[in-house]
Amino acid sequence: MEPLSPLDEAGIARAVLAAQRAFSNAQTLDELKEARLVHTGDNAPITQANMRIKGLEKSERPVAGKLMGRARKDIQVALTAATERIEAEVEARMLVEETVDVTLPVTRTPSGARHPLPALMEDISDLFIGMGWQVAEGPELEHEWFNFDSLNFGPDHPARQMQDTFYVDGVAHAGSEADVETQPGLVLRTHTSPVQSHALLERGVPLYIVCPGKVFRTDALDATHTPVFHQIEGLAVDKGLTMEHLKGTLDHFAQQLFGEQARTRLRPSYFPFTEPSAEMDLWFPQKKGGPGWIEWGGCGMVNPEVLRNAGIDPEEYTGFAFGMGIERTLMLRNAIADMRDMVEGDIRFSQQFGTTGRGN
Ligand code: FA5
Ligand code: MG
Repeated sequence: MEPLSPLDEAGIARAVLAAQRAFSNAQTLDELKEARLVHTGDNAPITQANMRIKGLEKSERPVAGKLMGRARKDIQVALTAATERIEAEVEARMLVEETVDVTLPVTRTPSGARHPLPALMEDISDLFIGMGWQVAEGPELEHEWFNFDSLNFGPDHPARQMQDTFYVDGVAHAGSEADVETQPGLVLRTHTSPVQSHALLERGVPLYIVCPGKVFRTDALDATHTPVFHQIEGLAVDKGLTMEHLKGTLDHFAQQLFGEQARTRLRPSYFPFTEPSAEMDLWFPQKKGGPGWIEWGGCGMVNPEVLRNAGIDPEEYTGFAFGMGIERTLMLRNAIADMRDMVEGDIRFSQQFGTTGRGN
């Protein structure tokens, strides 16, 4: 292309027009900068023509100077106008984008979250209440007699070592002569089974109870154990109860909690307070790595000794009992890999279960 002559009026007008078009087409400051370089930069036709004025005949220079001066001014005006236009647009867009709608509703108080453990204990209790059972409670600081003796753990019974017990030295009694009155034989209950004896003594038979509650063992905190955990105990004592009733109750319980496909399986085991005794496994369809059996709790037919300790004739009444860990149950139901998440008090754990503790 022929270089633009500073005397070429029509050519200069075309260059000016091209610059004006490019500036008004620019949508952003970056695009405008690019157009400015093309039309006013060192290599732009107008710039080059301007530099050629010096090489003209002296007589031609005033005309060329005038033409070029006007052209450069027109381009400058167009550039300023485009700059102002784009800056105004950017600002308007920012105002829209950054607008705070003060009429939007706000959450003034963040809604809390319920811990899933008590929610699960309530759900299990409700399930049994629905079958006509009652909810029973017992003390967490328990007499050794209730925790062990009433349940047929003899004084030297090796089974006392089955559970790692927190023995309690003394209890402070407000207003007593001594600040601390030593009361031997107190333990933090190691299971909810002592509630069986309390309920048999206090409520008599026939008896259908569940007892959810906190229990304590000298276990170290790890992914599947905590020193303070929860169990739910079930006890039914009536005329003519057999292991079939136990199995049917457990299957119903499992299906209500884990769905239609859930099943339980009993494996022979030993507890002093049941005879026969069994470990109870749960058929767990959602088990990681495919469906399978998972240990869930203990159960069995109430040992006649336990009934006798409560003044009930085992020739007349029979019963079944079961007890499972609530943390373990929650781990199974919600695929929680680490029990520590349940006890460390991080609100984000509970929040996954929502304000109901059951998932919203
Ligand atoms: C008992 O505690 C018996 N009282 C259960 C029972 C009741 C048997 C009625 C027969 C009749 P065991 O020690 O196995 O049994 O504990 C029962 C469940 O508690 C275990 O299956 C497990 O789910 C849970 N568990 C035990 N130790 C811990 C722990 N440290 N942390 C969390 N869960 C635990
Ligand atoms: Mg066990």
